[in-house]
Amino acid sequence: MTTAATPATQAYLSELFSLHGRTAVVTGGSSGIGRAITGALARAGASVVVVARGEAGLTATVEELTAEGCRAAWVSADLSTREGVRTAAERAVEAFGEPDILVNSAGINVRPPMDELTEDVWDATMAVNLDAPFLLGQRFGPGMAERGHGRILHISSQQAHRAFVQSGAYGASKGGLESLARSQAEAWSPRGVTCNVLVPGFVMTPLNARLSSDPEKVAALAERTLIGRNGLAEDFAGAAVFLASPASAYITGQAVFVDGGMSVH
Ligand SMILES: NC(=O)c1ccc[n+]([C@@H]2O[C@H](COP(=O)([O-])OP(=O)(O)OC[C@H]3O[C@@H](n4cnc5c(N)ncnc54)[C@H](OP(=O)(O)O)[C@@H]3O)[C@@H](O)[C@H]2O)c1
Repeated sequence: MTTAATPATQAYLSELFSLHGRTAVVTGGSSGIGRAITGALARAGASVVVVARGEAGLTATVEELTAEGCRAAWVSADLSTREGVRTAAERAVEAFGEPDILVNSAGINVRPPMDELTEDVWDATMAVNLDAPFLLGQRFGPGMAERGHGRILHISSQQAHRAFVQSGAYGASKGGLESLARSQAEAWSPRGVTCNVLVPGFVMTPLNARLSSDPEKVAALAERTLIGRNGLAEDFAGAAVFLASPASAYITGQAVFVDGGMSVH
């Protein structure tokens, strides 16, 4: 039999996990994993600014959340150039002020074979997957540290740890991202800013549209997990709220695998 949570239980859970009064910036928050994290942070009480290029995804995300009574806003910006990142950061603070939480979910994965990996693909991958998180960290991290509280969360990949399906530039960018999180933790965690990474397995999102359309490959990937299925964007909601909340104050510099056990199978 289930019973309604008592006020004491609600107060306890709220003290641990509530994001009320916090402001978050989520890059790539208009699609896939980033969109699920945006919804989770907003429903947990944060005011969330979503950053991506396409206005249709941005407005759909924000409209869904504001219809539920959440506070959300969007900024259309291209994070593939340094100027684009700087502009995005300045516009992102206009809605709700300086963020307490930064989530870097925007990412691209172009998978040319290594022999055909051009400098352009290398540069574009590094720009979105590694340079943008670095630049946004430089913009927002020192302010968080000065205020004595902050949460930085990056989305990495299995390919930061092992090479498969043409890891190429993508795997290198994600390896760098995990090291960046540790460097940021070294710098800012003594002043209350935790910096962590979520490591997905295979998640059915637009990023994987081509792979997702091959039922045999999808089934083979599901078999590589211990849970027996591929990931869903919603699987990231709980881990993101936890790592953005007061409950995770003593966890920093970590890579948390949200992968159904793929990495340990
Ligand atoms: N899906 C997986 O299996 C998987 C596995 C491991 C890691 N990841 C990582 O998880 C993160 C999210 O992936 P996802 O699967 O949720 O991908 P997704 O559904 O394709 O979403 C990517 C998001 O990034 C934004 N974005 C891409 N390029 C951008 C740019 N130049 N400037 C600004 N925004 C940009 C996209 O919006 P616009 O296109 O409108 O700009 C979109 O909001 C990525 O970092 C990815 O590497 C995913």
